[in-house]
Amino acid sequence: MNPGTRPEGVLCTGRLYCDIVMGGLPALPTPGSEVYADRLTLAAGGGAYITAAYLVARGRRAGLAALLPAEPFGAAIADELAGSGIDLSACTAAAPGAEPQVTVAMIVDGERAFVTRRAGLAVPATLAAAIGSGRYRHLHLGELATLAEAPQVVALARAAGLSVSADCAWDAAVLARADLPALLAGVDVFLPNRVEAEALARHAPLADHAPLVVIKDGAAGAEAIRGATALHRPALATRVVDTVGAGDAFNAGFLDAWLGGAALADCLDAGAASAAMAVGRIGGARGLLEDARTMAPRRAAR
Ligand SMILES: Nc1ncnc2c1ncn2[C@@H]1O[C@H](COP(=O)(O)OP(=O)(O)OP(=O)(O)O)[C@@H](O)[C@H]1O
Ligand SMILES: [Mg+2]
Repeated sequence: MNPGTRPEGVLCTGRLYCDIVMGGLPALPTPGSEVYADRLTLAAGGGAYITAAYLVARGRRAGLAALLPAEPFGAAIADELAGSGIDLSACTAAAPGAEPQVTVAMIVDGERAFVTRRAGLAVPATLAAAIGSGRYRHLHLGELATLAEAPQVVALARAAGLSVSADCAWDAAVLARADLPALLAGVDVFLPNRVEAEALARHAPLADHAPLVVIKDGAAGAEAIRGATALHRPALATRVVDTVGAGDAFNAGFLDAWLGGAALADCLDAGAASAAMAVGRIGGARGLLEDARTMAPRRAAR
């Protein structure tokens, strides 16, 4: 089946950024100093978009409900978004006069540092209509901060019969909250990484955050916690080019398998396979569908 044509779509929501990626830095800048990049790339970023792109690359229909970055940065990522195969009909333009929502990513060898400007609402006004459209069976939130800003979306999704998942993503202010299990009520699958999980566990046991908690742990693989039981599966041994987007790609593989009713070990392995694709290529999801299509003969058998 061609990418993007499988039924049972997933709606992804959360902030969409224009990533300004500064590559080949000799060192990260320190106060009072300046460093020079070898290359500059503009790319679309944010967990909701990257997970949606990897879902489409796996052949799962996916939509994105997000506010586009204000100009001139919206135009800079328009072609990438248009070529992603994601249903963008629930994306809306930023409010007139809004600040652009951008991330500056600084890359030194394998190390990365980010500066992000969040601007405007976390979710567009079109989200409720997209949830109620009947076109989706699952809602994925790209970051916990989105849920903190728009806590009503989980109840909306559940009322429309959708299951719900959420990535965590690092946000010190959100992770300092003691009420996260309550905020996550109604979320079926919660997918923090190891560092985020350690911050969460300072307030409440991980198992209290959702019926299924999946902890992504880089090269060490991932662990699923369901109540008192835990299941670990390794990462795939693969050439690591760039880990940007690995966690969001993992989400796509895991959720695609989980929605298909696969056993938990197979869901973890599907996450690892999707993440392996991400670590094997540069950047987030730019050009991903093209890459996935070049692998089409292998995928056609799915
Ligand atoms: N160095 C690596 N080698 C092999 N696989 C990796 C490596 N780093 C990440 N992965 C794969 O990616 C998955 C998710 O990685 P990670 O734990 O880095 O998520 P994350 O920190 O949420 O990533 P992100 O930076 O996208 O938010 C891992 O479970 C693993 O399958
Ligand atoms: Mg992550």
